[in-house]
Amino acid sequence: MMQCSLLLLLELFSYLNPNDSEKISDPVASYKLIRRVSAEWSDIVDYTQKSLYETFQTVLKYAQIPQEEDLNGAASGLIRLQEIYKLYPHNITKETALTADEAYHVGLVAYTEEKFQLAFLWFLYSLEKLTEYSTTTRLKLLNYLHSSAYDFGSLPVAIYFCRQHLNLDPDNEDVKVLLNLYKILYSQRTSNPDIFTLNTGSSKYETLCRGEVVKRTSKRQRALTCRYSTGGGNPRLMYAPVKEEVEWDDPQIIRYLDIISDREIEILKNISRPLLSRSETIGGVSKDRTSQGVFLGEDYPVVARVSQRIADVTGLSVDSAESLFVQNYGIGGRYEPHYDGCDDENGRIATFLIYMSDVAIGGATVFPEVGVALKPIKGSAVFWYNLHKNGQVDLYTLHAGCPVFRGNKWVANKWIHEYGQEFRKPCSLSYWE
Ligand SMILES: *[C@@H]1O[C@H](CO)[C@@H](O)[C@H](O)[C@H]1NC(C)=O
Ligand SMILES: *[C@@H]1O[C@H](CO)[C@@H](O)[C@H](O)[C@H]1NC(C)=O
Repeated sequence: MMQCSLLLLLELFSYLNPNDSEKISDPVASYKLIRRVSAEWSDIVDYTQKSLYETFQTVLKYAQIPQEEDLNGAASGLIRLQEIYKLYPHNITKETALTADEAYHVGLVAYTEEKFQLAFLWFLYSLEKLTEYSTTTRLKLLNYLHSSAYDFGSLPVAIYFCRQHLNLDPDNEDVKVLLNLYKILYSQRTSNPDIFTLNTGSSKYETLCRGEVVKRTSKRQRALTCRYSTGGGNPRLMYAPVKEEVEWDDPQIIRYLDIISDREIEILKNISRPLLSRSETIGGVSKDRTSQGVFLGEDYPVVARVSQRIADVTGLSVDSAESLFVQNYGIGGRYEPHYDGCDDENGRIATFLIYMSDVAIGGATVFPEVGVALKPIKGSAVFWYNLHKNGQVDLYTLHAGCPVFRGNKWVANKWIHEYGQEFRKPCSLSYWE
């Protein structure tokens, strides 16, 4: 037991270490680990000698061993991601399968949250995975399968699983009563929603996050151009023009490709990792988890170089800009819809957002007011003006970061302010109306 506990602690520490937590890039794997750690932790507490137990207590305090609510939080985060990205249990368990007991727990959390369809699908998955070693039973699962089908409104399916339940447990009077109830309700019911087909989350934001851009928008987006730019004849760019694409015209959103090298990205990540607060990384797929961020000053040569490049390609002064803000989003990490600009005296006129990683699923930057979704592309950056020429916030620039489903999202933000642009803005008049 002792050796096993130490191994577990080592694993736990590597999980809590922000450098390594990047390796857990799959919400299902993260859920499994949290579940194992929280279950085994109670074993450790039960079996350990008193002196060691006190040491562990310290560790517990320091490391915040995941507790039951963290486990429920992880399941809840998983369910939320599933809803947004319309994913079935079989979609997300390809790399990492869940056991019948794990799937049963996820189903229970979904059921408690009254997400009956997802609960049903997880109970069904659990039934497929059931073995003689499972703690959960066929009876329990059949019971939840007909209840969740009933709660979802799919009566034929409720009747089907209710009959299965009765086959296994023929004398159960309660289930007989339920079966009769389902039959009566079915005879009165006209609608019969399909419980096997996911059809959730139709808000503009979620649709965009899934990449289901409306046809009109995608046609318009395709019509936009791609060109090489020298930042209006900037000497530093004359011999190495940057490739730029117009992602959208109103507000104008420009993507610069290969604006930062892999090596520069690696250095920026290396600088940031130890500075990022780890407090929020615990608990894995937490419900409200967003991101961790750190401002980097220009005393790092790489930061100064990136700042200069931003000034060169945008033609704006970065003298009054904020320091480069590096952010890391883990699984579930997102940024709710917001404006960067504020119309105070020295507002953030523009945003330069550098993508320092690709993201396997999720993590797009979306503009719900105009229907644009920008995919993270490692080494590229997107740029837009937040303020109109008169200094007021451009309401079309409302944007959000979609939750990361699989992978790890790294970005660096440079917010450019009004002061210092007095002599530069005339050059960029076309961008800034
Ligand atoms: C999930 O599975 C469904 C049905 O099998 C499939 O149509 C869909 O493309 C899958 N989605 C992803 C993201 O793999
Ligand atoms: C970043 O850190 C890793 C691990 O410490 C190291 O191997 C790598 O060489 C560093 N990269 C750069 C570009 O400094």
